[in-house]
Amino acid sequence: MSLLEVEDLAVHFPITRGVVINRTVGHVYAVDGVSLSIERGETYGLVGESGCGKSTLGRAILKLTEPTRGAVRFDGTDIAGLKGEELRRQRRRFQMVFQDPMSSLDPRQSVESLLAEGMKAHGLTGGHARLQELVDAVGLPKGALRRYPHEFSGGQRQRIGIARALCVEPDLIVADEPVSALDVSVQAQVLNLLSRLQRELGLTYLVIAHDLAVVRHVSDRVGVMYLGGIVEEAPATELYTDPQHPYTKALLSAVPVPDPESEDQRERILLAGDLPSPAAPPAGCRFHTRCPWRHKERCASERPELRQLEGAAPGHRVACHFAEDIRAGLIQPHAVDATMVDEAAILDIDAPEHATSVTDILGR
Ligand SMILES: Nc1ncnc2c1ncn2[C@@H]1O[C@H](COP(=O)(O)OP(=O)(O)OP(=O)(O)O)[C@@H](O)[C@H]1O
Ligand code: SF4
Ligand SMILES: [Mg+2]
Repeated sequence: MSLLEVEDLAVHFPITRGVVINRTVGHVYAVDGVSLSIERGETYGLVGESGCGKSTLGRAILKLTEPTRGAVRFDGTDIAGLKGEELRRQRRRFQMVFQDPMSSLDPRQSVESLLAEGMKAHGLTGGHARLQELVDAVGLPKGALRRYPHEFSGGQRQRIGIARALCVEPDLIVADEPVSALDVSVQAQVLNLLSRLQRELGLTYLVIAHDLAVVRHVSDRVGVMYLGGIVEEAPATELYTDPQHPYTKALLSAVPVPDPESEDQRERILLAGDLPSPAAPPAGCRFHTRCPWRHKERCASERPELRQLEGAAPGHRVACHFAEDIRAGLIQPHAVDATMVDEAAILDIDAPEHATSVTDILGR
């Protein structure tokens, strides 16, 4: 049995308008039908552009955000149904590491009190010796326990964040952009620390990042997200060397390669148009408005399922109706005029006098 099983998970945030009476005029489909599983001791990397729903998915798995539908099973137990004491007990077993450790660490507490508090919240007690062992394990300097978060560098603060997650002896750690705020030289140290702790403690990780390189180096398997759904999933090496979904191909074609010869021959796939708003996701295949391989009827009306790709390595799953044909070269890419999605038609907004765009509603 997998440690974590996620089935058809969705998180839809209501968009409300109105001063006195709040009226729901639509939804942000932040996560919309994600299924994945993570084995014990495995690292699953989740990548995708900003706003595609990675953090929301991570938070919904940890029950920090209430899902709209779907199931999350942790070690066989359905998390959705848990409440009170039972939820608190299970919660100890899954912890989160955040991008910006400063915002998740109380600046008025010493490291010792931060760690002790984390343990106490789960009914654990840790003497000074246990806490010392923890800060040693994450490579913090001598005397760190007595010091305060602002006295540390960014990389060291992330080590405190990791110690804080570890102090309750979790099974699963969801690390949301754990190194994005750090200098490149420090990123590698923190990633190596995570790998070492995984080996020593048998941890399971879900690592979220928008940086493809970060995920590649730590992951056993990688999932690529686009507009609330996973479009491709494969063992890490396979995904990077043999991407099959048109979106993954485009993402990877934008990453420069170090070898000048292959860099010259690198085929770049430029995507037409911007990322559509998750408040008005395109019908059918979410990617059809930008896909150079799209088929005009089927792709615009039928949402492809994430399924095992025929003829590919086991576990290489792709959400594309035409993945096999594209792979065999039976369909050639063609130029795409980006099609706009009519947001007002999707949201319950009375045009024209209330023709507020989704962007206005979301305040961006
Ligand atoms: N609490 C919320 N209420 C309403 N909308 C939200 C909320 N949280 C996130 N969203 C929206 O859901 C979508 C997905 O957000 P999310 O933070 O999960 O993306 P992300 O992939 O983590 O992006 P990034 O790489 O920038 O961190 C975005 O459009 C965001 O604006
Ligand atoms: S289903 Fe159609 S639009 Fe979607 S990725 Fe495949 S070819 Fe492109
Ligand atoms: Mg995020």
